[in-house]
Amino acid sequence: IKRIGVLTSGGDAPGMNAAIRAVVRAGLHHKLEVFGIQNGYKGLFNNEIRPLDRYSVSDVITRGGTFLGSARFPEFKEESVRQTAVENLKHHGIDALVVIGGDGSYMGAMSLTELGFPCIGIPCTIDNDIAGTDFTIGFDTALNVAVEAIDRLRDTCSSHNRISVVEIMGRHCGDLTSSAAVAGGAEYVIVPEVPYDQGELIGQIFEGVAKGKKHAIVAICENMCDANRLAYDIQAATGRDTRATILGHIQRGGTPTAVDRIIASRMGARAVELLLEGYGGRCVGLQSNAIVHHDIIDCIKHLKRPFNEELYQLSNVLF
Ligand code: F6P
Repeated sequence: IKRIGVLTSGGDAPGMNAAIRAVVRAGLHHKLEVFGIQNGYKGLFNNEIRPLDRYSVSDVITRGGTFLGSARFPEFKEESVRQTAVENLKHHGIDALVVIGGDGSYMGAMSLTELGFPCIGIPCTIDNDIAGTDFTIGFDTALNVAVEAIDRLRDTCSSHNRISVVEIMGRHCGDLTSSAAVAGGAEYVIVPEVPYDQGELIGQIFEGVAKGKKHAIVAICENMCDANRLAYDIQAATGRDTRATILGHIQRGGTPTAVDRIIASRMGARAVELLLEGYGGRCVGLQSNAIVHHDIIDCIKHLKRPFNEELYQLSNVLF
């Protein structure tokens, strides 16, 4: 191969820029030409493709977001849309593609590979919900944001003897919530992987208040319930002032941590090597601190990323 493309797709995550930089610099190191596709699969369909050189990625390693832009583009499920995408890539003489993103991005990479266009996926989402890797790029930065938020909430909660409900992103994966709960010392953790009963939770909080607990933090993964409603119900049952804080997209922005920059750099460089080794339809991952690669179909369909039960239980032990 002589020319590769790189795109970022789906929800952005801190460290995406570091991953693009790694693909560009590793590609150039291996004497490849590198093209950037703007705005994910949408830009690929619209032919928003331009050459990148080493200076295109100067100073991006510290920046959150993605300078290539990203988009959610469900239309990419249509075969004719994907055909146009492949034609656009071929028109630019591009032989292979690196896709940086989450599970939706992997689906796109898989279907392009099935059309005969080799793609390598790099797991990049704050949710840490991708199989075949212990950590996705962006998770560590988002985790640090969530922990800082919990620390701040603790200060104000303890000053006012309040209960705080903090909603953390993750879509349907509780990793960000249970990790932030342990690191932030939250008393109650609610994640999608463990059955949740609001009555039981409120009962436990009530008991804590009755025993003289001055304040409490409830860490809850998004999409489980209405956090404001939960805060209202807790307040009604316990008689203790309760506030909800929805961290939302704040968790997606900001300077990536060193950990995210390092895994992005390692994965980006390895993705290019895999293309040079003739692979397509694979995705890189970090397992036991080694960079590995798996069949992208296995990661989407067959490899179930194990829920970290031990981490979840730790919150109960340390409560
Ligand atoms: O996948 C990353 C993520 O931030 C999830 O945690 C969240 O559910 C979703 O994206 C939000 O998507 P959007 O930015 O499209 O509202």
